[in-house]
Amino acid sequence: MAFKVTESAGPCGATISGLDLSKPLSEEVISQLRKAWLKYKVIAFPEQSLTNTDLENFTLYFGDYGDDPYFEAIEGHDHIAAICRDANEASPIFAQVWHTDWSFQKLPPAATCLYGITVPPVGGDTLFINQQKALDEMPDDLRARIDGKLAIHSARGGYAPDGAYGEREKNSDRSMKIIYSEQAYATQTHAFIRRHPETGDEMLYGALGYIIGVQDMSQKQGHQLLVDLYEWQTQKQFQYAQKWSSNMLLMWDNRSVLHSASGGYQGYDRLLHRTTIADRIYS
Ligand SMILES: [Fe+2]
Repeated sequence: MAFKVTESAGPCGATISGLDLSKPLSEEVISQLRKAWLKYKVIAFPEQSLTNTDLENFTLYFGDYGDDPYFEAIEGHDHIAAICRDANEASPIFAQVWHTDWSFQKLPPAATCLYGITVPPVGGDTLFINQQKALDEMPDDLRARIDGKLAIHSARGGYAPDGAYGEREKNSDRSMKIIYSEQAYATQTHAFIRRHPETGDEMLYGALGYIIGVQDMSQKQGHQLLVDLYEWQTQKQFQYAQKWSSNMLLMWDNRSVLHSASGGYQGYDRLLHRTTIADRIYS
Protein backbone atom coordinates (compact mmCIF):
# COMPACT_ATOMS: atom_id res chain seq x y z
CA MET A 1 0.00 0.00 0.00
CA ALA A 2 1.24 3.46 -0.87
CA PHE A 3 0.16 4.94 2.45
CA LYS A 4 -0.20 4.03 6.11
CA VAL A 5 -3.60 3.48 7.78
CA THR A 6 -3.89 3.75 11.56
CA GLU A 7 -7.26 2.57 12.84
CA SER A 8 -8.89 4.61 15.63
CA ALA A 9 -9.71 2.98 18.96
CA GLY A 10 -13.41 3.79 18.37
CA PRO A 11 -16.18 2.08 16.38
CA CYS A 12 -15.13 3.83 13.13
CA GLY A 13 -12.40 6.12 11.88
CA ALA A 14 -8.80 5.84 10.68
CA THR A 15 -5.90 8.20 10.09
CA ILE A 16 -4.01 8.05 6.83
CA SER A 17 -0.42 9.23 6.48
CA GLY A 18 2.25 9.05 3.83
CA LEU A 19 0.38 10.92 1.08
CA ASP A 20 0.64 14.50 -0.14
CA LEU A 21 -2.87 15.31 -1.34
CA SER A 22 -1.73 18.47 -3.10
CA LYS A 23 0.02 16.22 -5.66
CA PRO A 24 -1.87 14.13 -8.26
CA LEU A 25 -2.91 10.69 -6.98
CA SER A 26 -2.68 7.54 -9.10
CA GLU A 27 -5.71 5.39 -9.97
CA GLU A 28 -4.27 2.69 -7.73
CA VAL A 29 -3.98 5.02 -4.73
CA ILE A 30 -7.49 6.41 -5.30
CA SER A 31 -8.87 2.87 -5.42
CA GLN A 32 -7.05 1.97 -2.17
CA LEU A 33 -8.33 5.15 -0.51
CA ARG A 34 -11.88 4.30 -1.57
CA LYS A 35 -11.53 0.89 0.07
CA ALA A 36 -10.21 2.47 3.29
CA TRP A 37 -13.03 5.03 3.27
CA LEU A 38 -15.67 2.29 2.89
CA LYS A 39 -14.07 0.16 5.59
CA TYR A 40 -13.34 2.79 8.25
CA LYS A 41 -16.21 5.14 7.24
CA VAL A 42 -14.32 8.25 8.42
CA ILE A 43 -10.77 8.88 7.22
CA ALA A 44 -8.50 11.71 8.36
CA PHE A 45 -5.47 13.06 6.53
CA PRO A 46 -3.48 15.24 8.95
CA GLU A 47 -0.66 17.60 7.98
CA GLN A 48 -1.76 18.39 4.46
CA SER A 49 -1.37 21.79 2.82
CA LEU A 50 -4.24 22.25 0.42
CA THR A 51 -5.47 25.16 -1.66
CA ASN A 52 -9.15 25.36 -2.58
CA THR A 53 -8.23 23.92 -5.97
CA ASP A 54 -6.46 20.99 -4.29
CA LEU A 55 -9.61 20.33 -2.24
CA GLU A 56 -11.69 20.38 -5.42
CA ASN A 57 -9.29 17.99 -7.16
CA PHE A 58 -9.38 15.58 -4.22
CA THR A 59 -13.19 15.68 -4.16
CA LEU A 60 -13.44 14.87 -7.86
CA TYR A 61 -11.25 11.76 -7.50
CA PHE A 62 -14.24 10.09 -5.86
CA GLY A 63 -17.23 11.32 -7.88
CA ASP A 64 -19.06 14.42 -9.02
CA TYR A 65 -19.82 17.31 -6.72
CA GLY A 66 -22.97 16.93 -4.63
CA ASP A 67 -25.86 19.39 -4.78
CA ASP A 68 -25.54 21.75 -1.76
CA PRO A 69 -28.81 23.69 -1.70
CA TYR A 70 -28.62 25.77 1.51
CA PHE A 71 -25.03 27.02 1.64
CA GLU A 72 -23.59 30.00 -0.16
CA ALA A 73 -20.37 28.95 -1.89
CA ILE A 74 -17.14 30.84 -1.27
CA GLU A 75 -16.10 33.31 -3.93
CA GLY A 76 -14.65 31.71 -7.05
CA HIS A 77 -15.35 28.13 -5.93
CA ASP A 78 -18.94 27.13 -6.61
CA HIS A 79 -18.77 23.83 -4.71
CA ILE A 80 -16.90 24.87 -1.57
CA ALA A 81 -18.79 26.13 1.48
CA ALA A 82 -17.17 27.80 4.47
CA ILE A 83 -18.09 26.22 7.81
CA CYS A 84 -17.08 29.07 10.05
CA ARG A 85 -17.65 30.60 13.44
CA ASP A 86 -16.25 33.81 14.86
CA ALA A 87 -14.55 33.82 18.25
CA ASN A 88 -17.31 35.77 19.96
CA GLU A 89 -20.30 34.57 17.96
CA ALA A 90 -23.43 34.08 20.07
CA SER A 91 -25.57 32.07 17.62
CA PRO A 92 -26.04 28.35 18.36
CA ILE A 93 -23.28 26.01 17.07
CA PHE A 94 -24.10 25.03 13.49
CA ALA A 95 -25.20 21.40 12.92
CA GLN A 96 -24.88 20.30 16.53
CA VAL A 97 -27.42 17.55 15.94
CA TRP A 98 -27.08 13.95 14.74
CA HIS A 99 -27.70 13.76 11.01
CA THR A 100 -26.32 12.52 7.74
CA ASP A 101 -25.77 15.18 5.11
CA TRP A 102 -28.70 16.15 2.92
CA SER A 103 -30.62 12.92 3.64
CA PHE A 104 -33.78 14.71 2.49
CA GLN A 105 -32.51 14.47 -1.10
CA LYS A 106 -33.50 11.66 -3.44
CA LEU A 107 -29.86 10.66 -3.90
CA PRO A 108 -27.97 12.20 -0.96
CA PRO A 109 -24.20 12.78 -1.15
CA ALA A 110 -21.99 9.71 -0.69
CA ALA A 111 -19.29 11.67 1.08
CA THR A 112 -18.50 14.94 2.75
CA CYS A 113 -14.98 16.38 2.84
CA LEU A 114 -13.93 18.97 5.44
CA TYR A 115 -10.57 20.70 5.44
CA GLY A 116 -9.44 22.44 8.62
CA ILE A 117 -7.99 25.91 7.99
CA THR A 118 -8.40 27.70 11.32
CA VAL A 119 -8.74 25.12 14.07
CA PRO A 120 -9.22 26.12 17.73
CA PRO A 121 -6.84 24.55 20.27
CA VAL A 122 -9.78 23.10 22.23
CA GLY A 123 -13.21 21.63 21.42
CA GLY A 124 -14.95 21.42 18.06
CA ASP A 125 -14.62 17.65 17.64
CA THR A 126 -16.75 16.21 14.83
CA LEU A 127 -18.71 13.32 16.33
CA PHE A 128 -19.69 10.21 14.40
CA ILE A 129 -21.97 7.21 14.90
CA ASN A 130 -21.32 3.90 13.16
CA GLN A 131 -24.77 3.07 11.76
CA GLN A 132 -23.72 -0.44 10.75
CA LYS A 133 -22.70 -1.33 14.30
CA ALA A 134 -25.86 0.30 15.70
CA LEU A 135 -27.94 -1.98 13.48
CA ASP A 136 -25.81 -5.11 14.04
CA GLU A 137 -26.27 -4.84 17.81
CA MET A 138 -29.90 -3.69 17.78
CA PRO A 139 -32.39 -5.72 19.85
CA ASP A 140 -34.71 -7.83 17.71
CA ASP A 141 -37.87 -6.09 18.94
CA LEU A 142 -36.63 -2.62 17.90
CA ARG A 143 -35.37 -3.95 14.59
CA ALA A 144 -38.78 -5.53 13.90
CA ARG A 145 -40.40 -2.12 14.40
CA ILE A 146 -38.31 -0.46 11.65
CA ASP A 147 -37.82 -3.42 9.31
CA GLY A 148 -39.40 -2.72 5.93
CA LYS A 149 -40.53 0.77 7.01
CA LEU A 150 -39.81 4.02 5.24
CA ALA A 151 -38.58 7.12 7.06
CA ILE A 152 -39.81 10.53 5.89
CA HIS A 153 -36.88 12.96 5.62
CA SER A 154 -37.13 16.73 5.28
CA ALA A 155 -34.88 19.77 5.63
CA ARG A 156 -37.71 21.84 7.12
CA GLY A 157 -36.47 21.79 10.74
CA GLY A 158 -33.27 23.54 9.67
CA TYR A 159 -33.66 25.32 6.37
CA ALA A 160 -37.35 26.27 5.94
CA PRO A 161 -38.32 29.91 6.65
CA ASP A 162 -39.55 28.80 10.11
CA GLY A 163 -36.60 26.40 10.63
CA ALA A 164 -33.64 26.75 12.96
CA TYR A 165 -31.61 28.66 10.33
CA GLY A 166 -34.60 30.51 8.84
CA GLU A 167 -36.16 33.89 9.56
CA ARG A 168 -35.54 33.65 13.28
CA GLU A 169 -31.84 34.20 12.55
CA LYS A 170 -32.43 37.39 10.59
CA ASN A 171 -30.75 39.51 13.26
CA SER A 172 -28.32 36.89 14.52
CA ASP A 173 -24.55 37.21 14.33
CA ARG A 174 -24.08 33.87 12.53
CA SER A 175 -21.03 34.16 10.29
CA MET A 176 -21.91 31.15 8.13
CA LYS A 177 -23.76 31.95 4.93
CA ILE A 178 -26.93 29.85 5.07
CA ILE A 179 -29.75 30.25 2.56
CA TYR A 180 -33.14 29.16 3.86
CA SER A 181 -35.90 28.34 1.41
CA GLU A 182 -39.51 27.20 0.95
CA GLN A 183 -38.13 24.16 -0.88
CA ALA A 184 -37.01 22.81 2.52
CA TYR A 185 -40.61 21.78 3.22
CA ALA A 186 -40.29 18.99 0.61
CA THR A 187 -40.12 15.40 1.85
CA GLN A 188 -38.29 12.30 0.63
CA THR A 189 -38.55 8.75 1.91
CA HIS A 190 -35.67 6.34 2.50
CA ALA A 191 -35.76 2.90 4.15
CA PHE A 192 -34.62 2.86 7.81
CA ILE A 193 -32.51 -0.22 7.01
CA ARG A 194 -30.58 -0.01 3.76
CA ARG A 195 -27.95 -2.08 2.04
CA HIS A 196 -24.88 0.06 1.49
CA PRO A 197 -24.72 0.55 -2.28
CA GLU A 198 -21.00 -0.26 -2.48
CA THR A 199 -20.34 -2.79 0.28
CA GLY A 200 -23.75 -4.52 0.34
CA ASP A 201 -23.75 -4.41 4.16
CA GLU A 202 -26.99 -3.60 5.96
CA MET A 203 -27.02 -0.43 8.04
CA LEU A 204 -29.29 2.20 9.51
CA TYR A 205 -29.86 5.38 7.57
CA GLY A 206 -30.59 8.74 9.19
CA ALA A 207 -31.97 9.84 12.55
CA LEU A 208 -34.70 11.91 14.14
CA GLY A 209 -34.15 15.46 12.99
CA TYR A 210 -34.02 15.24 9.23
CA ILE A 211 -36.38 12.26 9.74
CA ILE A 212 -39.71 13.86 10.62
CA GLY A 213 -42.08 10.88 10.47
CA VAL A 214 -42.68 7.30 9.41
CA GLN A 215 -44.58 6.41 6.25
CA ASP A 216 -48.02 4.90 6.97
CA MET A 217 -47.84 5.62 10.71
CA SER A 218 -49.63 8.33 12.70
CA GLN A 219 -47.49 11.29 13.74
CA LYS A 220 -47.68 10.20 17.38
CA GLN A 221 -46.79 6.54 16.77
CA GLY A 222 -44.10 7.50 14.29
CA HIS A 223 -42.55 10.00 16.69
CA GLN A 224 -42.35 7.40 19.45
CA LEU A 225 -40.60 5.00 17.10
CA LEU A 226 -38.15 7.72 16.02
CA VAL A 227 -37.38 8.58 19.66
CA ASP A 228 -36.83 4.91 20.56
CA LEU A 229 -34.56 4.47 17.54
CA TYR A 230 -32.66 7.67 18.37
CA GLU A 231 -32.07 6.53 21.94
CA TRP A 232 -30.61 3.27 20.68
CA GLN A 233 -28.42 4.52 17.87
CA THR A 234 -26.90 7.48 19.74
CA GLN A 235 -25.43 5.41 22.58
CA LYS A 236 -21.79 6.06 23.44
CA GLN A 237 -20.55 2.66 22.26
CA PHE A 238 -21.44 3.58 18.67
CA GLN A 239 -19.76 7.00 18.82
CA TYR A 240 -16.37 8.20 17.66
CA ALA A 241 -15.02 11.72 18.30
CA GLN A 242 -12.72 13.07 15.61
CA LYS A 243 -10.23 15.61 16.94
CA TRP A 244 -9.14 18.35 14.58
CA SER A 245 -5.83 19.90 13.73
CA SER A 246 -5.01 22.65 11.27
CA ASN A 247 -4.39 21.39 7.73
CA MET A 248 -6.29 18.14 8.33
CA LEU A 249 -8.66 16.81 5.68
CA LEU A 250 -11.53 14.62 6.83
CA MET A 251 -13.74 12.54 4.55
CA TRP A 252 -16.68 10.43 5.70
CA ASP A 253 -19.28 8.10 4.23
CA ASN A 254 -22.72 9.64 4.68
CA ARG A 255 -24.33 6.29 3.91
CA SER A 256 -22.84 4.53 6.92
CA VAL A 257 -22.40 7.14 9.65
CA LEU A 258 -24.27 9.92 11.40
CA HIS A 259 -22.32 12.98 12.44
CA SER A 260 -22.73 16.01 14.67
CA ALA A 261 -20.76 19.17 15.31
CA SER A 262 -19.71 20.00 18.86
CA GLY A 263 -18.81 23.22 20.66
CA GLY A 264 -16.35 23.97 23.44
CA TYR A 265 -14.23 26.52 21.55
CA GLN A 266 -15.91 29.82 22.44
CA GLY A 267 -13.40 32.64 22.11
CA TYR A 268 -11.63 31.10 19.10
CA ASP A 269 -12.26 31.59 15.40
CA ARG A 270 -12.90 28.41 13.44
CA LEU A 271 -12.90 27.91 9.66
CA LEU A 272 -13.22 24.73 7.63
CA HIS A 273 -13.88 24.33 3.91
CA ARG A 274 -16.43 21.72 2.87
CA THR A 275 -17.33 19.86 -0.28
CA THR A 276 -19.73 16.99 -0.89
CA ILE A 277 -19.33 14.08 -3.29
CA ALA A 278 -22.46 12.97 -5.13
CA ASP A 279 -23.60 9.38 -4.88
CA ARG A 280 -24.62 7.50 -8.01
CA ILE A 281 -27.02 4.71 -8.82
CA TYR A 282 -25.08 1.43 -8.56
CA SER A 283 -26.08 -1.44 -10.77
FE1 LIG B 1 -23.42 17.74 8.33
